[in-house]
Amino acid sequence: MSQKHLLEAVDDGGDTLTLLNDNGFFLPNFPDGVRISCVRSVRIRDDDILLCTYPKSGTHWAFEITRELLAGEIVEDNKTKVQAFMERTSDEKFADLPSPRFINTHLLMKHLPDDVRKKKIKVIIVLRNPKDVAVSLYNFLKTIPFVNYKGDWKNFVGPYFQGKFMYGSWIDHVLDWEQVKQDNPDLPVLTLFYEDIQEDQMREMRKICEFLGVERTDDFLSKVCKNTTIAAMRTRKEDDSGIKVFRKGGVGDWKNWFTVAQNEWFDQFYQEKMVDCPLQFKYTL
Ligand code: A3P
Repeated sequence: MSQKHLLEAVDDGGDTLTLLNDNGFFLPNFPDGVRISCVRSVRIRDDDILLCTYPKSGTHWAFEITRELLAGEIVEDNKTKVQAFMERTSDEKFADLPSPRFINTHLLMKHLPDDVRKKKIKVIIVLRNPKDVAVSLYNFLKTIPFVNYKGDWKNFVGPYFQGKFMYGSWIDHVLDWEQVKQDNPDLPVLTLFYEDIQEDQMREMRKICEFLGVERTDDFLSKVCKNTTIAAMRTRKEDDSGIKVFRKGGVGDWKNWFTVAQNEWFDQFYQEKMVDCPLQFKYTL
């Protein structure tokens, strides 16, 4: 029997985050959230495309860019990735989405329907350097009423990187998807980096087009760039819930947050855990 109950995760200062424990995996207590077991029973279509990210890695941005590249038109609506977010959408709601569906998740492969692998659907992974992710998540969590977190940054960093909060640790998540790629060499996967999109969005969009098998002109790509700046997306998509997704953007805000001691601790921690991982992250541009 699947278990799902509220959990108070605790930071190093005793402040708590209200999360859900779904069979040992911690998730935000989304008001419209579904169980991982529901996610596993979503019927996957052959032409589904799946965006997989660790939270705060640029999911909204990559979703919007890819949605417009797929559609071949500039979309000026307030829809976000939440409309196709596996953790918040039941199979019935997914069934209403027209093909090819562009869906997204922060979960791991083991949480997803077996057909993701069996049908070899296209998977886009977007990664972001862990220091900027930590800063982004800290600021984001403080805006989510149902997480109700009031802790200080100094008490957040350690337990966060040890995976005590939602979606497990950044390191486990990244390594898990790297393993999936190794174990499934015939699964079509495109791995992108947030920092690379910041550096040259046109170049990264061409990679997406090639992966999706769509041809788009440079003129169209320029229009997508303009339509997906953080300012443009904030204006169109931020709602009045108080939850702040479109914060600052960019690469290197971590330098304004990490103390020298935190940085040294993390660099050491990273070296130990990621020693066999070939991925290279950019911490500054
Ligand atoms: P910061 O908190 O560092 O600003 P996600 O969509 O995975 O939740 O990631 C959110 C992060 O992506 C936030 O980072 C947010 O500001 C940034 N972001 C959202 N839209 C963006 C855009 N159009 N361009 C660049 N960064 C964007």
